[in-house]
Parts: sequence; C-alpha cells; structure tokens
Amino acid sequence: MLSNLVKIKETFEKELAAVKDGAALESLRIKYLGRKSGMMNDVMQKIREVPPEQKSQYGSEANKLKGYITSKIDEAEQGLGGAQKKSADFFDVTLPGIPPVRGGYHPLELTRRMIEGIFQRLGYTIVEGPEAETDWHNFEALNFPKHHPARDMQDTFFLENDLVLRTHTSPVQIRTMEKTKPPVRIICPGRTFRCDWDITHTPNFYQVEGLMVDAGVSFADLKGTIDHFCRELFSPDTVTRFRPSYFPFVEPGAEVDIRCVKCGGKGCRVCKQTGWLEIMGAGMVHVNVLENVGYDSEIYTGFAFGMGIDRIAMLKFGIDDTRLHYENNLRYLEQFRGVC
Ligand code: DAH
Repeated sequence: MLSNLVKIKETFEKELAAVKDGAALESLRIKYLGRKSGMMNDVMQKIREVPPEQKSQYGSEANKLKGYITSKIDEAEQGLGGAQKKSADFFDVTLPGIPPVRGGYHPLELTRRMIEGIFQRLGYTIVEGPEAETDWHNFEALNFPKHHPARDMQDTFFLENDLVLRTHTSPVQIRTMEKTKPPVRIICPGRTFRCDWDITHTPNFYQVEGLMVDAGVSFADLKGTIDHFCRELFSPDTVTRFRPSYFPFVEPGAEVDIRCVKCGGKGCRVCKQTGWLEIMGAGMVHVNVLENVGYDSEIYTGFAFGMGIDRIAMLKFGIDDTRLHYENNLRYLEQFRGVC
C-alpha cells in the first residue's frame, strides 16, 4: 500500500514536468485533487482497506502526499502566471501603430476662411472689433438716428452704460474709418447677436462686413467685386442680381441674390420656388456715414456689404437648419473633416 503512494508521487512528478500551459495544469489538478474522481480521493478511501497496524502510517503518508501535490501544483500555477505576465509586458515593435484621431474645422470656421481668402487675394485687410459695442458705433454713426424705425429690426440685446451686443459687424467700418484715411479696403469677420431663434436664426451668429472707400469708387466696382466673390465661392458660372433695398448706412442700398445653387433657377424648396437665394446686403456708403467719420464726401465714395457666415455655410454645404452649427454634435461636425 505504501509503495503505491510512492508510485503515485513518481508519476505525478513526471506528469508535472511535462506541463506547458495553464490548461494542462488544470487537468493535472483535477486528475489528482479533483473532489469526486481525483486520485488522492481514491487514496483516502483506501484507508479503510489498510490493515489496522499500518493504518496510521498510511494515513499520515497519504496526507503528506496530498499536501505535496497541492503545493507543487500551486507553485507551478504561479510560475505559469509569471510567464503570462511577462508576455503582457512584451512590446511588439513590428505591430502597426494606432493613428491619432484627426480633428477638423467647424463648418462656420471653414466658411469664414474661404470668404477671407477670396478678399485677401483682392488686397483686403482683415480687421476685428469689439462684441460689446457703443450705441454710436452700432447705430448712430451708421446713420440710425435715435428712434429710427430701422433700429427695431435689429432685435438688440442691450447692456449697461449705453452698450449693446453688436447686432452686426458694420460698426467695425466706423471704427476703422475713424482711425485711418482712405483708401480703405477691409473685411471684418466676427460674432454678432440678436434676440432671435428659429431654423434660420440663432441669438449668436457670425457676419462678415466688407468696406472699400477711395476717390471714385462706384456701384460698378461693388458689382464687379461681389460677382467675383460669388464665382470664387460657389462656382464660376454663378449668376448674381442686385435688388433695391434699404439699409440706413448705404444709398443706394441693395440685396444681393445668386441664382439658386440647388435647382439652377428652376425653383425648388431651397429657394422657395423663386429660383434665387439672398446672400447679402450691400450698397454705396451713405454720405452721412462718410461725414460722421470725418471723410470728405465730395472726394471719397465707397461701397459696403455684409453677409451672414451661417447663411453662406448653409448654402455652400447644403445645410437646412442653422442651429446644427451650435449643438456640437460630432456626427454632424465630422462630415467636414478634411474639407480644407
Ligand atoms: N449690417 C447689415 C445687417 O446686419 C448687413 C449689411 C447690409 C451690411 C448692407 C452692409 C450693407 O455693409 O451695405 O443686416
């Protein structure tokens, strides 16, 4: 009986030496120490058959063997765990890397850059102004006298101390002309504010104002500049038209339309069946505005224009709800990655 224990120990040692991985070790553990059919279970059962005088020796040897097998298996388990840990630390330099996710420009930023680029190539300088503006720069100097009904159309946010959140970027014209002598050729992008909220309006939006003043600037210069701009921005065959309109700071004033980029003029949902899309306001700088900034209106004339970046972006990229620009929805924004 005792020699049987010695044999078991020998076989176990041989088998243990052949174990290469966790699965093999687990089967070995079940084979020897398994609750129901493990070999050591058998060994323990056999105590009953051992003659009384050998019982205590057999019992103690059997227990020793069981302890030995248990500790050997534990030891081997730790060894294998160590090996596995080592392989987790292993760094394979030949594996392809994980490329960093590339960001992209926001559609409004893209549009602003496109607009600026076109005018910069025409020799215009970019100028910025404050978002909290004085009544003088936002209204008065632009020929909106106090109580003028045109002030109502601007849905102004009023601040303290006679300041307003600027309702357009036109005040940057005034600030620039107050500081510089003609010729002036500027483009003024920036944030603007009006108390408005629907699919084509948000209380915070963006505009670009343009201004050109010099001796002998005419409406033909305005038309040529705007035509060139529209063809560069949309496509070389873009058709424009100027409709008479009213803005206090220009005379004559106009609204500029382009032939619908969607239907080519046939009439569709985008152009509300008119065949035309309104893209900006424009006109010849009003004599009062020139005089307000100290320019001699007998010598100098100029043109100005103003457009909403949000609206241009909607037309350029075929977007039908401007509020998308302010919701930071990555699924929307990611579509513009790599546009320019
Ligand atoms: N400031 C006008 C607006 O926000 C846009 C505009 C119209 C600007 C005509 C101009 C202009 O310079 O000539 O509605």
